[in-house]
Amino acid sequence: MRVLLLGKNGQVARELQRTLLPFGTVIALGRNELDLEDVDSIEPSLQAHAPDIIVNAAAYTQVDRAETDQQAAQRLNAEAVGFVADFARRHGATLVHYSTDYVFDGTKDGAYLETDETNPLSVYGRSKRAGELAIEASGCRFLLFRTSWVFSADGANFIKTILRLAKERPALRIVADQFGAPTSAELIADVTSLALAAHRRDMLADGIYHLTAAGKTSWHGLACYVVQRASELGFELKAGPETIEPITTAEYPLPAVRPCNSSLNTDLLTRGLGLSMPGWTVHVDRMLEQLRRQEQTS
Ligand SMILES: NC(=O)c1ccc[n+]([C@@H]2O[C@H](COP(=O)([O-])OP(=O)(O)OC[C@H]3O[C@@H](n4cnc5c(N)ncnc54)[C@H](OP(=O)(O)O)[C@@H]3O)[C@@H](O)[C@H]2O)c1
Repeated sequence: MRVLLLGKNGQVARELQRTLLPFGTVIALGRNELDLEDVDSIEPSLQAHAPDIIVNAAAYTQVDRAETDQQAAQRLNAEAVGFVADFARRHGATLVHYSTDYVFDGTKDGAYLETDETNPLSVYGRSKRAGELAIEASGCRFLLFRTSWVFSADGANFIKTILRLAKERPALRIVADQFGAPTSAELIADVTSLALAAHRRDMLADGIYHLTAAGKTSWHGLACYVVQRASELGFELKAGPETIEPITTAEYPLPAVRPCNSSLNTDLLTRGLGLSMPGWTVHVDRMLEQLRRQEQTS
């Protein structure tokens, strides 16, 4: 079995390089080997690698920059995805793809189901939704996972930013009225491989699935948790949970509008695989421990 992984240097892709190994030969391509914005290069590259499974972890993920870089976001998150899905259908390959909580507007009272109506508030959210629709329309075999608030020790993400800021400044102001589930790239990659194995045995159907850690918090709640745990682990920080001021979204305007409620209901996937998701703190702890070990050995 040949597995083609796109976007090999991203947070989720780095973890996938480990969890996809049981499926066969993994060929991992980064932007240098296949630039997905150059849509003409997609077909020859995919043909050359003749994959049985294509895992697309590449995406335009700079949510604020997308507001002024609409074409690039659309090309990568929608058009390129459509080309890859069309190739997958014509060649009988299975496509694994990732999408986002930002396809919803956040007005629901409770966690979003896969079947809930989408209404993205940002260019990024609209481009990711267009990618979902392109996959559904292609007729290929696919697993599409919507996830949220992704982090890993290797990537650029909110947790690493908070850790850096807490080392530099005695006080922080963090948005407290947006809620979601921080989800590690490690968890996403582990569950992807379980889902893919079940899919290959026809025990999990094609479709969209929500894949996040259990529970929810706000950005403020996450920041407080991070500095608390980090200081317990021995990081030298100037800020503590008591010096992180909760603020509203309106007090911290950004180019892209975010949903206030990003909670995704994962029952469809957890029931399908017979597992339960760990609470969001579990992998935050693991990442902080990993970063602490790195700091001590550097
Ligand atoms: N990050 C989040 O908080 C979040 C939340 C919800 C959903 N998601 C979704 O989860 C998936 C994985 O996200 P992630 O956090 O792992 O993303 P990431 O760390 O930003 O990685 C994205 C990867 O895409 C690659 N890429 C960008 N433009 C490309 C191009 N033109 N051609 C080929 N590759 C290109 C990047 O390459 P370079 O390394 O060269 O830049 C990068 O390695 C994405 O579909 C994302 O939309 C992410």
